[in-house]
Amino acid sequence: MVNSSDNRLKGYLGRFKNPLKRPPMGGITQRFARFAVVRKTYSLFKFAQQYYFSRFYSPALNAAETSVFSWHTLSQHTRNMHQAGVSLGLRLPENMVTEILDYALKTPCREPGYQRNFYISEVHNGHLADGHPVMRALVTASPGQTCPAIQQLLEDPFLLTIVHDYLHYHPTKISWHLTWSIASPLPHDVIRQTYPPVSFHYDIAGYNFMTAYFYITDVDENSGPHVMIQGSRTGKPFKMLISGGCQSDEAVMRYYGKEKELVITGSRGFGFVQDPSCFHKVIPPQTSHRLLLQIRYS
Ligand SMILES: [Fe+2]
Repeated sequence: MVNSSDNRLKGYLGRFKNPLKRPPMGGITQRFARFAVVRKTYSLFKFAQQYYFSRFYSPALNAAETSVFSWHTLSQHTRNMHQAGVSLGLRLPENMVTEILDYALKTPCREPGYQRNFYISEVHNGHLADGHPVMRALVTASPGQTCPAIQQLLEDPFLLTIVHDYLHYHPTKISWHLTWSIASPLPHDVIRQTYPPVSFHYDIAGYNFMTAYFYITDVDENSGPHVMIQGSRTGKPFKMLISGGCQSDEAVMRYYGKEKELVITGSRGFGFVQDPSCFHKVIPPQTSHRLLLQIRYS
């Protein structure tokens, strides 16, 4: 279970600076996992593999015995995931939110394409002291200095149960990302050029995958809400499926309709699970930075 900010800054990023160009141009995984049939086939393969070699998998997950979430909501979340590829309404305990926020405030951040580490407190009016405009800041993980609250969530049995129900297998890779989206005074078009996730896109993060998201700061319409298109994990138009990366709002709305769009707001501690092969984006924050914890299962 790893923090993947380094991988996001190196790895494929070294070959394709724009992460949204990685799905169409990336390696074998990126090329084929966009197809729902590939993801389903992989799930079947992993299910069979783990069924026949079950003694190797559950212990490796290191799941905790108790969860911070309410078990009585489990069936609702699993049902929502299968129906729409998203389920809202998770809630972190306040002490965990405080702990993760403190960790993010005290830990250096990095931005893809910018060499120097910096603290979020160094960002003023969307810029660092040297004039560099910051769109996002990935909280780095120092060896031996992990956040216990994040570690506890990685092992949470409630989340792992949702993941197993959705993917049909125990995830073999769990990574986390703690990311500030910066409130910037720059025009939307300028932000769009340097911060690709503000455009609709879908992720390819393995052969099959899903993600849990937690807002660590309050998020309203003006402070960086996550937006997704319900049910768009399958049935994408061929052109969008192949081009993968940035899709215009107009093209997405024309195909799916406004009624499928879900603008997700919530107070600090609010969480949701989503299949990131659904189209999604972040609306650039205007009034305050957004801190988002993502836990990715594949
Ligand atoms: Fe994404």
